[in-house]
Amino acid sequence: MGKPSSFVLVAASVMLAAAGAAAQPVHLSAMAELGRDMFFDRSLSGSGAMSCATCHDPAHHFAPANDRAVQMGGPYMDKPGIRAVPSLTYRSFTPAFSVGPADEASEAGDATPMAAANGAVNGGPAGLLGAAPPATGKTGTENAANMAPRGGLFWDGRVDTLQDQAMGPLMSPFEMDNPDIAVLAEKIRKTYGERIAQLAGRTVLDDGEALVGEAGFAIARYQVEDPAFHPFSSRYDDYLAGKATLTEQEMRGLRVYEDRNKGNCADCHPDKPAADGTPPLFTDFQYEALGAPRNKDIPANADPHYFDLGICGPMRADDYAKQKENCGLFKTPSLRNAASRGVFFHNGVFRSLEDVMRFYAERNTDPGRFYPKDADGRIEGYDDLPAQYRGNIDVIDPPFNRKAGDKPALTDQDRADLVAFLKTLTDR
Ligand code: HEC
Ligand code: HEC
Repeated sequence: MGKPSSFVLVAASVMLAAAGAAAQPVHLSAMAELGRDMFFDRSLSGSGAMSCATCHDPAHHFAPANDRAVQMGGPYMDKPGIRAVPSLTYRSFTPAFSVGPADEASEAGDATPMAAANGAVNGGPAGLLGAAPPATGKTGTENAANMAPRGGLFWDGRVDTLQDQAMGPLMSPFEMDNPDIAVLAEKIRKTYGERIAQLAGRTVLDDGEALVGEAGFAIARYQVEDPAFHPFSSRYDDYLAGKATLTEQEMRGLRVYEDRNKGNCADCHPDKPAADGTPPLFTDFQYEALGAPRNKDIPANADPHYFDLGICGPMRADDYAKQKENCGLFKTPSLRNAASRGVFFHNGVFRSLEDVMRFYAERNTDPGRFYPKDADGRIEGYDDLPAQYRGNIDVIDPPFNRKAGDKPALTDQDRADLVAFLKTLTDR
């Protein structure tokens, strides 16, 4: 991939500007403006009907405008995807995929990698080179019991940089469906050739791979630079800054969220600013198997032999995908703007925050509510994961540490309070 030559802003300064710049006009570098135009350009798809914004709608925090479990794409816009579309807000802070000591950064209040990670991976020099080396340099085979995967983009962490990520949807047969790099390069050359030549030199025009690399870089710069992707403008941000108060119910929700014996949510979705003052991202970027029920609304699931195993595939095929302790694990998503989503979890099986909270509370105490019965009338728990991987499912961290017949970790009131709190995380 060609080395993009124009590199303007340091991610950390973008970050701070974003946090403090509610009403100021947005200034994007020429590269980011180019990326913005591409982000909304339907002609970059095989169908001519689909841009990034079709699935990542800026009016919906860069998540879909509809509440389908998966979106349609491909040449005739009739090929279903296999996973729920995440919001793109706050994704530029995602560190590169790595496997390292578990729980390193998952304690509530720990510094999230934030600006540092963003600078190193998605905004900085490593981002320019494509794949960044794993932060720890370790593999999952060493001391596997204490090693945990972390970071990376997509639900399975299969790419490290926003630049490389953009190639996924552009080439996917069920998304933007470009048949090959040459076809995509030709489209980019036609519409954007002159602008790219001005930023990166004329030689890239003769090198399809380099041209496509520049396009990916521009799309990444747009997501890094435009504060619309990381406005930090939720009521909870105002509360942290001492500029707003939360209602009694929201405060109760916050306490349940942080209570290690109740919600324990902050253990995986940290809610405290980092030591340097950067606001919380509500994800520790680690991976968990939570055992979400199988979703019949995903057409691929009509095949009883098909399973989405997260890190173990079908979208990932490296060495990590072959390690059985990674099967069923999906990345912990940020909870910022989650309240505005139509569907939840990697397979979109839940349709409201209330449903998600009930699952957290009652997955093990009342499994019949979530899972089907087999021919003998027994509840088939964790039905979206083959039996040999069910040992990977988290039954240790509260609220998941209850057993059938136990009292749920969360009462009805706790769940309602949590939902009220989660709604304070939506950006203006
Ligand atoms: C057909 C709908 C669709 C289109 C079009 C689409 N995406 Fe996505 N996007 C998805 C889905 C689904 C995922 C999650 C896929 C997965 O995890 O395997 C995703 C994931 C992402 C992620 C990773 C988010 C995270 O949480 O790690 C980024 C960044 C992203 N898309 C950017 C883009 C860009 C840039 C474009 C245009 C070049 C684009 N998308 C076009 C559906 C779409
Ligand atoms: C052990 C780690 C862990 C704990 C504890 C935890 N979560 Fe999660 N959370 C995850 C993971 C992993 C996912 C994604 C699972 C998947 O897609 O299969 C998730 C998904 C979610 C989602 C869906 C977001 C989306 O974009 O689809 C919400 C909402 C959520 N969690 C809220 C909470 C709340 C509230 C609590 C506390 C009651 C909590 N979580 C506790 C790890 C955790």
